[in-house]
Amino acid sequence: SKGDYRHFMLKEIFEQPKVINAALEGRLGEHSVLAESFGPDAQALLANTRQIHIIACGTSYHAGLVARYWLERYAGVPVQVEVASEFRYRHPVVPEGTLFVTLSQSGETADTLAALRFAKRLGYIGSLAICNVPGSSLVRESDLALMTRAGPEIGVASTKAFTTQLVALMLLTLALDKTLGKDARDSDGTKHADIVAALKTLPDICRQVLALDADIEALSQAFAEKHHALFLGRGAHFPIALEGALKLKEISYIHAEGYPAGELKHGPLALVDSEMPVISVAPNDDLLGKLKSNLQEVRARGGQLFVFADENVGIDDTEDDVCVLHLPHVHEALAPLLYTLPLQLLSYHVAVLKGTDVDQPRNLAKSVTVE
Ligand code: M6R
Repeated sequence: SKGDYRHFMLKEIFEQPKVINAALEGRLGEHSVLAESFGPDAQALLANTRQIHIIACGTSYHAGLVARYWLERYAGVPVQVEVASEFRYRHPVVPEGTLFVTLSQSGETADTLAALRFAKRLGYIGSLAICNVPGSSLVRESDLALMTRAGPEIGVASTKAFTTQLVALMLLTLALDKTLGKDARDSDGTKHADIVAALKTLPDICRQVLALDADIEALSQAFAEKHHALFLGRGAHFPIALEGALKLKEISYIHAEGYPAGELKHGPLALVDSEMPVISVAPNDDLLGKLKSNLQEVRARGGQLFVFADENVGIDDTEDDVCVLHLPHVHEALAPLLYTLPLQLLSYHVAVLKGTDVDQPRNLAKSVTVE
């Protein structure tokens, strides 16, 4: 039941601290991930993994795109990510030692399942399903499964399934880093143990972000009459921009696009005027300086900016044309997870203002079991 919530989507957004906790439960040791989390047969497969191909659809695909940044940076493993409906009709060349990973909330998405069946003929070393439904077709047909433990997701717009997929993908990143023994730190000296410690505090930081709900609701008023919106992010936050745009179009029917902020001047900047709200996420990372100058380009064209920014980065709304909401500081590796939350709430409140059917958007089904 929806309990006190007006929609399942809102309930599921607010469940995230709890289900992120569930996704971590029993899977972390004091300083590292517990290898047993992936099942008894995992160790051999992970030890032989030299690269990864990730296949998924929709929101799950966006989780895969985030994971590429993580796996390459923190585990040193090369990654390709593709939507299932394209992969299954290509003639992929599979390098030796490649692990095939599918991501799916339902485990029944027709294209993702067909991609797994197709992959079995292609010489992968094995398959891992990251999935929310135990006993689903995807889980049954994969060599390994890591359950996301988000609980039933009823709203067609995926929310808690996405953030728990990200948790699972970070666990995979840490498990590979540990198994492959790549010195347990990336080139910037980020320690595996620091990420583990940050994961443990994540549910609490998520709670703090969800407490911004009323501010985000107030901000949503600016979107109700708009026909378009542009979402910008850099690095691992580019997929978060894509996900923010997908949520908005899916439930509010506002045309939205997600772009890597650095691509702005290669085309989309031509769209920016006072009728185009531009939403950006600005965590405290090494791309901040670059992002700030991209945001200046938007302001110079009269675009209205909405920025979700780390409280320490010095982005404030001293100007009329910039609206800033501060988020608590989080370890850089986990920022994509945290910055997803305000974008979910934003699209939710815009949809409510527009009076759409939030949990059952037109033309969409929760589980896409046909091609
Ligand atoms: O069950 P799956 O994760 O395989 O579903 C994939 C997509 O159909 C799904 O994520 C879809 O994009 C959502 N409605 C997005 O909110």
